[in-house]
Amino acid sequence: MAGNSFGRAFVVTSAGESHGPGNVVIIDGCPPGLAISAEEIALELARRRPGQSGLVSPRDEPDRPEFLAGVYEGRTTGTSIAILVRNVDVRTRDYAAIIDKYRPGHADYSYDAKYGTRDPTGGGRASARETVARVAAGAVAKKLIRESFGAQIVGYVKQVGAVVAEVPEPARVTEAEVERFADGTANPVRCPDEAAARRMIALIEAVRADRDSIGGVAELVATGVPAGLGEPVFDKLTADLGKALFSIPAVVGVEYGSGFLAATMRGSEHNDVFVSGSPIATETNRHGGMLGGISTGMPLILRAAVKPTSSIAREQRTVTTDGAPTTIATKGRHDPCLLPRFVPVAEAMVALVLADHWLRWRGQVGRR
Ligand SMILES: Cc1cc2nc3c(=O)[nH]c(=O)nc-3n(C[C@H](O)[C@H](O)[C@H](O)COP(=O)(O)O)c2cc1C
Repeated sequence: MAGNSFGRAFVVTSAGESHGPGNVVIIDGCPPGLAISAEEIALELARRRPGQSGLVSPRDEPDRPEFLAGVYEGRTTGTSIAILVRNVDVRTRDYAAIIDKYRPGHADYSYDAKYGTRDPTGGGRASARETVARVAAGAVAKKLIRESFGAQIVGYVKQVGAVVAEVPEPARVTEAEVERFADGTANPVRCPDEAAARRMIALIEAVRADRDSIGGVAELVATGVPAGLGEPVFDKLTADLGKALFSIPAVVGVEYGSGFLAATMRGSEHNDVFVSGSPIATETNRHGGMLGGISTGMPLILRAAVKPTSSIAREQRTVTTDGAPTTIATKGRHDPCLLPRFVPVAEAMVALVLADHWLRWRGQVGRR
């Protein structure tokens, strides 16, 4: 009922706040025998962690995952897996000045309206610190789907503000291209179009200098997904992926395949014709790899629009918790653009859905 669990067969449950002792995730339903190490999980967490570049929040979290249960001698046992990631760099004093004010665009007011109480430090449960649990569980899910059917999930930043990347063949983008520029240096914005990436970086630096923030779009591509995953009618793969992405903080829109552009097209333009072969494929992929909510074997392609970070240093009008007019300027450590750190979180959520649907497919159909 309380919404801290996700999935039906590969079930994750998380707990944790921004400035509490840590975040924990329990994974139920992972098959036994999967080789997984804390180092593999740490690699994914390093892509999400604050302090990883000059473009993100400077909060310095080492994000070292600790297995508490479910893994013996480097392999899952089939029992519930528990992973703890401790919070180390908490700075509660940053929030003292705004404890009785509602940040415009953040969840302070709606949490108070619902519960009548909240942990205000760092945004509490509404802080994206909870996404560390998603990424830890997603690392296990990624490994499971890679080993089970060769799936790969690559996410990247497609747009920041008005700067849009040219990515002609999404299914060919590699994680290496997303993480590094051609000269081998780190690509802090995670956009595979280098020219666009450099413009995005300049834009993010400019908005930060202006004590502001900026939104954008991430694209997610899953390759190697076999035809047949997804359940009619309420648990379509499209629906579960939509929920997975919409559950990430700051997501304001999700589309797959041609998405909202389909509204402007005719059927004769939009239909992806089938071509013979084994397996059967389509010539184009405007359907984003899913028809009837079931995967077709073509790459899954989704996009998520992410709003500009609400906590900004610029002064804005708001009210106190008693409803009196006041102003607010959020100090503390915030991302001027959420997109670079959003990418690994979104990949993790796609992996969780695919792991879940793979196990459900195996349980009901299971003929491959
Ligand atoms: C990876 C990531 C990092 C985030 N960092 C911040 C941040 O530093 N400051 C902030 O105000 N919001 C941040 N957010 C967004 C807030 O968590 C989110 O806007 C807030 O919980 C309200 O939820 P909503 O935007 O979905 O309505 C982040 C989101 C993500 C996905």
